[in-house]
Amino acid sequence: MDFVIAVDGPAASGKGTVAGRLAELYALPYLDTGLLYRAVGVAAERAGGGESAAIAAARALKAEALEDPDLRTRSAGELASQIAAIPEVRAALFSFQQRFAATVGGAVLDGRDIGTVIAPLAPAKLFVTASAEIRAERRWKQLSGQGEAVELAEVLADIRRRDERDSGRASAPLIQAADAVLLDTSDLGISQAVDAARRIVEAARSRWETSRSG
Ligand code: DC
Repeated sequence: MDFVIAVDGPAASGKGTVAGRLAELYALPYLDTGLLYRAVGVAAERAGGGESAAIAAARALKAEALEDPDLRTRSAGELASQIAAIPEVRAALFSFQQRFAATVGGAVLDGRDIGTVIAPLAPAKLFVTASAEIRAERRWKQLSGQGEAVELAEVLADIRRRDERDSGRASAPLIQAADAVLLDTSDLGISQAVDAARRIVEAARSRWETSRSG
């Protein structure tokens, strides 16, 4: 496997920001896998909702659907977390993500199961987290900035519900891979979090280069 950076973690932990910056720094293509689940959740809802609509939407998903700005809303996140528990949905999205991870030269992917299921052999793995309160505050600022009227307490309740659902599901639950490095961003600003992530990735890159030359 080329230099794949797997970034997992709970909602609003900062993993998307960290993954996006790492992709820029290493000039690697980047896939936000949460967008796939969000697109399926939104398409299934538009088709009337339910498990079979979600499975059909996952099987029919096209790359263009990922451009929809509605995917960034609070309700899309909630729908995504619900349909993400359906094993057939995960199976339908699996090969697209695996192909992306197999890009020649490497790639950066962020999500919940990148280091455990999609790219278990990734040379660099991070598990990015932060306290639920801090994550709620960040998500609340993002949603308010997008013009969504929502109370901080509701966002905190959403985050807690999603943590429980994403971690508690039977199929590819949110869990830190045994060989992932934990990065807690609770007390870090964006540039500090990115610097810390870069140090972790640099160490992983040296190990990876040594193992390839040996
Ligand atoms: O990263 P995000 O908040 O955009 O993800 C939305 C939901 O999608 C998340 O609550 C769970 C699901 N998801 C998943 O199950 N596996 C992934 N690799 C990415 C997202």
